[in-house]
Amino acid sequence: MCGIFGFIGKRSAAPLLVDGLRRLEYRGYDSSGIVVKNGNLQVHKKIGKVSELSKILPNHIEGNVGIAHTRWATHGGVTDENAHPHLSQNGDIALVHNGIIDNARGLRKRLTERGFHLESETDSEALVHMISIGIDSGQSPLESVRQTLNRVTGTWGLCVLFKEHDLIVCARNGSPLIIGKGEGESFVSSDPHALTQHTQSFYLLEDGDMAVVTRDGIDISRLEGGASSTGLTILEDEWGEADMAGFPHYMLKEIHEQPEALRRCITGRLDMANGSAKLGGLRLDPLRLRTVPHVRLIGCGTALNATKIGQLAIESLARIPAVAHVASEFRYNDPVINPNAIHFAVSQSGETADTLSAVKEIQLKGGDVHGIVNVVGSTIARTCGQGVYIHSGPEQAVASTKAFTNMVASLLLFAIRIGRTRNFSREKGQSIIKDFQRIPDLMEKYLQNPGPIDEAVELVKDAKSVLFLGRGLSAPVASEGALKLMEIAYIPCLAYPAGEMKHGPIALLEEGSPVVVILPNDKHREKTIASMHECRARGAKIILIHEEGDVEATEEADISIPVPSCSYLLTPLLTVVPTQLIAYRTALALGCDVDRPRNLAKSVTVE
Ligand code: M6R
Repeated sequence: MCGIFGFIGKRSAAPLLVDGLRRLEYRGYDSSGIVVKNGNLQVHKKIGKVSELSKILPNHIEGNVGIAHTRWATHGGVTDENAHPHLSQNGDIALVHNGIIDNARGLRKRLTERGFHLESETDSEALVHMISIGIDSGQSPLESVRQTLNRVTGTWGLCVLFKEHDLIVCARNGSPLIIGKGEGESFVSSDPHALTQHTQSFYLLEDGDMAVVTRDGIDISRLEGGASSTGLTILEDEWGEADMAGFPHYMLKEIHEQPEALRRCITGRLDMANGSAKLGGLRLDPLRLRTVPHVRLIGCGTALNATKIGQLAIESLARIPAVAHVASEFRYNDPVINPNAIHFAVSQSGETADTLSAVKEIQLKGGDVHGIVNVVGSTIARTCGQGVYIHSGPEQAVASTKAFTNMVASLLLFAIRIGRTRNFSREKGQSIIKDFQRIPDLMEKYLQNPGPIDEAVELVKDAKSVLFLGRGLSAPVASEGALKLMEIAYIPCLAYPAGEMKHGPIALLEEGSPVVVILPNDKHREKTIASMHECRARGAKIILIHEEGDVEATEEADISIPVPSCSYLLTPLLTVVPTQLIAYRTALALGCDVDRPRNLAKSVTVE
């Protein structure tokens, strides 16, 4: 999704801006651009990768103030003109903007009637012309941005550069923006990843904040006027630099990082003595856990699949109703909120607009929300103000892998905690925990010998569509496997609870149709095998993900991929891994851009 980077200091701005854009690349984008102040405002922008932009940049660009942008098209196609920065008509003001201006049509129309010629089809360009009207009428840079934003509805994280002033004006509403403070220099970005190599001192702007950023100072105020309460935050860079560590792609690296990431997530949280789990960030005392009427879990994409596993685990261990919700639907369905219920917002980035809207809807109706989030200090983490960090470390590939397993692990920890308070004995808790402690090692064992993944790739890579089946906890694993293959290899995939297959999707099956079946040794096994028979009878080829030693089941399969055995509750942490590898290697076989699939963004900051 769109990204912003800005710099003001004494160093040459252009190389820093380009480096900042490179660090934003993982988020997904289709064009990029920079503007540097050097007497005039020099803009360079180009569709395609940052490397395409670099090719058109002069060898040296003077100037130590500039702003830069990666664009993910929303208003207007992918063209050089629509790329940011946008310039005012006289070329004295430049703007980069993330988010969506809802009343842009009307604003563009009024500007055109006033004689402005708009160069692009974007909503963002209207803003720079409105700011220029303010400047021409004698307003200060800050005031011209404030007056403009007061006439606008929608969301923004934006930076504005002025030819006549040595400063950057920033504003945030619904789209993240962070200001970093260095020695005699300041930085702005929509993503902390782009800043952490420069500084650890940040101002995390809140919605409605505006800032004037200079080399030596940062002055934050509110859009409605008056001072802001946003203060300096020191973010410990526990993640360090996210490099490839010898892997050809981030996705493969992140798949292989799962055992270590999982250890980080569960270390110190498994409470063997009490047969329970400790989650310090959850403000839930035993009385609340005992009396809570139900649990609701909200997320999108991979996070949604994790919530579906959480739902089943919580119901199973705590014997209270739990429901997983699609975040993008939640707010608009005017949900009834019980303030006594427990709500979880699950998100890797902590910036997903749909999930954030759901959080705000719950809070507006008197409920409190706990975040289950990867990115420390992200908007969802801060808006919830309580919750669990999943500690996956930086996830750079658009296709989420290690965040999924750690979201599932975090939700399982909560299920153990609430289950222990309400339903099961210390001994049962201890037995689950003993199994949980083994999972990172079992993941490692599987990754050392992942089975016939390439044979599975041969079956799926040219298929018209691929069906993924599972029951119980394995149904969301099937959904996650399908999502992964679809998003990076562009193969239409359907995921169905295995029993539902005969009610419709079975019509798709023909000779050779690949079907991926997730089959742990659980109470659903026999029924899932029956579904597998139904598929085979129609000529389907079965790729079976099963537990080691299940010889009988493998007789039904064309390709069988064994994973280590573990207790039922923990099986998703292992059965999902082969589906990630199938997606990865299929995408490679088809020549797809594994880490940056087309049209997708790492964090989706528009609704
Ligand atoms: O950052 P989030 O976890 O909130 O992101 C939610 C989805 O956009 C994300 O999981 C998406 O589906 C991934 N590309 C899946 O691999």
